[in-house]
Amino acid sequence: MTCFSLPELHIGPYRIDPPVVLAPMTGISDAPFRALVARFGVGMVVSEMIASRSMITRNRRSMRMVDRAPGGGPHVVQLAGRDPRIMADAARLNQDLGADIIDINMGCPARKVVGGLAGSALMRDLGEAAAIVSAVVDAVSLPVTLKMRLGWDEDSRNAPQLARIAADLGVKCLTVHGRTRAQMYDGRADWRAVGDVCAAVDIPVIVNGDIRNGADARRALSLSGASGVMLGRACRGRPWLPSQVAAALSGRAVPSTPRGRELAAVVLDHYGAMLDHYGIPLGVRIARKHLKWYAEAAGIGPGFVRPAIREEDPQVVRDLIRNHFGKGAPADLEAVA
Ligand SMILES: Cc1cc2nc3c(=O)[nH]c(=O)nc-3n(C[C@H](O)[C@H](O)[C@H](O)COP(=O)(O)O)c2cc1C
Repeated sequence: MTCFSLPELHIGPYRIDPPVVLAPMTGISDAPFRALVARFGVGMVVSEMIASRSMITRNRRSMRMVDRAPGGGPHVVQLAGRDPRIMADAARLNQDLGADIIDINMGCPARKVVGGLAGSALMRDLGEAAAIVSAVVDAVSLPVTLKMRLGWDEDSRNAPQLARIAADLGVKCLTVHGRTRAQMYDGRADWRAVGDVCAAVDIPVIVNGDIRNGADARRALSLSGASGVMLGRACRGRPWLPSQVAAALSGRAVPSTPRGRELAAVVLDHYGAMLDHYGIPLGVRIARKHLKWYAEAAGIGPGFVRPAIREEDPQVVRDLIRNHFGKGAPADLEAVA
């Protein structure tokens, strides 16, 4: 067995301990989910991507997206956009609202975002990318970080080049999803290629993509030489996963996966927090996908999912959760360490 030492991750004045981060995920990493993940234990959580143009109008949806979740390290707000001036204004506004770190999105592959030449499209125009980074860094006194992919496609894997530009302009940490934009979510994340970014800069790099357990995290860190890991999709229905990965990485006993009544209590808490955050009926609708993920992770079938995703009355949904999760769910098949 090779010797493994847990890296230290620092972003400006913040030590991210453990070096395990919950990914920004639109429609998922909202304040209730970030708070829940933080309660189990995580080094840092990142908000959903917020369009800078809507942010500066302070519209209700954007303001709700930047809500600080208690715990979970520094409050990181992720911004997306293509206009340097608007990105700078949005960053300044978030500094005033209490953000600790501003993260710039240059990784989103979604057509809606790329069509507006933001997200990963900025990797095709490093001049534009530099103008945005420079405007945001100059606008705030907070640490600015940047999330990207390996490049636009196989023929333009320019992440190391963008990383150097960002580091020279004052960015304090980079996260790299080990896929190109053309790959979307196909194939496997290339953790070794993230190592080319680590080698190109002196600032910390977080490796991201397809990390589902402690063994993956360890391998992603060894292959890339990164200073931390970011977990996304694997946390859906498993808000405790970052805490388990952190324990596995540091060689501590891995906390057990909640089951039975303990699991029901987690799901009920999350459900209540979503209803508080969004109000009814929006909260009821938003909660449905989380309920499906919890059921999937716990091996609970259509007997719960079918009625739960149609039901409008929160009290009935709560009873369904108690009845189906509270009875001792089958073992979660995915080993963590
Ligand atoms: C539903 C969904 C929404 C996402 N939203 C964002 C986002 O708002 N900002 C961002 O930088 N990345 C976003 N991502 C990408 C993730 O942060 C992460 O880079 C990607 O899922 C790969 O990591 P994973 O394999 O651990 O999921 C999103 C991914 C998914 C699946």
